[in-house]
Amino acid sequence: MSSEIRRIAVNTGGGDAPGLNAVIRAVVRAAERSGWEVTGILDGYDGLFRDDGVVRLDRRAVRGITHLGGTILGTTNRGNPLRWPVKGEDGSVTYVDRSQEVLDALATLEIDALIAIGGDGSLGIAHHLFQKGLKVVGVPKTIDNDLAATVLTFGFTTAVETATEAIDKLHSTAESHERVMVVELMGRTAGWIALYAGLAGSADVILIPEIPYDRNSVCEKIEARWAEGREFAIVVVAEGAFPIGGEPLFKQTRGGEKRLGGMAELVAREIEERTGRETRELVLGHLQRGGGPNAYDRLLALRFGAAAVELVRDGSFGCMVALDPPDVLAVPLGEAIAATKRVPVDGDVVRTARALGVCMGD
Ligand code: F6P
Repeated sequence: MSSEIRRIAVNTGGGDAPGLNAVIRAVVRAAERSGWEVTGILDGYDGLFRDDGVVRLDRRAVRGITHLGGTILGTTNRGNPLRWPVKGEDGSVTYVDRSQEVLDALATLEIDALIAIGGDGSLGIAHHLFQKGLKVVGVPKTIDNDLAATVLTFGFTTAVETATEAIDKLHSTAESHERVMVVELMGRTAGWIALYAGLAGSADVILIPEIPYDRNSVCEKIEARWAEGREFAIVVVAEGAFPIGGEPLFKQTRGGEKRLGGMAELVAREIEERTGRETRELVLGHLQRGGGPNAYDRLLALRFGAAAVELVRDGSFGCMVALDPPDVLAVPLGEAIAATKRVPVDGDVVRTARALGVCMGD
């Protein structure tokens, strides 16, 4: 029992995901019932490095936000206090560790514990801060569903719904024009969104990073569609998919960063060149992260928020809340960030796709 808690902080880090606001609301409501004050840190940890970067969160501040997308606290996937970029006069960038400043700022604000909501990067930062003495509890977040210690992350099923709806809409235009439509979905090194949305949206081909694809198998599937009189096809490609013997594709961003992208374009070109079928590609991109959470993700987010407050109350720091149906449990942060959860290639969902005749690229 952690009796010395009077004020906790909460922040959201990394890419946003539908359900973040629901977690924040649950944290604030549950913390107030414990008699604690809640401070919201804006933009990940960035808010601690400026004067106007924290806000008081009370029940009025979190009223009516459960169903809202995004995060009322703002987020960033750049503000890593452990590797803070500093630009020199000659334009060169060096990185400094500002974690002690984070601890000092939290001490100045009289914060007794932090609830850090984030993906693998943010939870890694939280783990580091815990090792430096901060009382931290993590809440896992990512639409990619690639965190090994939890069966699901909130935001994933909403992203799958958004992607499925997009695939549904591609069917009619693909059929009208007798085209192949190739759609690229998010997921980095894990093909969860592509597999689930592809299967739910009746895609003909689903390419995921876990199964390097064979160009011939993909094209044979397209030809088979035409041969059976179904003269259109839907191909779902995870952004991190790659061909046998090849590698994932990266695009250089305007800011000079390397970001996954371009696989739909490549697959579309390969299909068009090899089969002669008119092919179009699209990248669904950040639509998958946008909008409000569905009912399932709201519920999961609320459960995670309430469970995180329970862990603070119990003094179980250095842990992350995790879904292990039917329960929400605590797992050590170190364990939670150790591994990425990838699609099991012989799991039942892949087997279901194969049973339905979906080409998985191999
Ligand atoms: O981690 C979630 C994710 O949606 C990835 O699938 C994707 O590659 C990445 O975020 C893109 O994030 P951003 O454009 O915000 O850097």
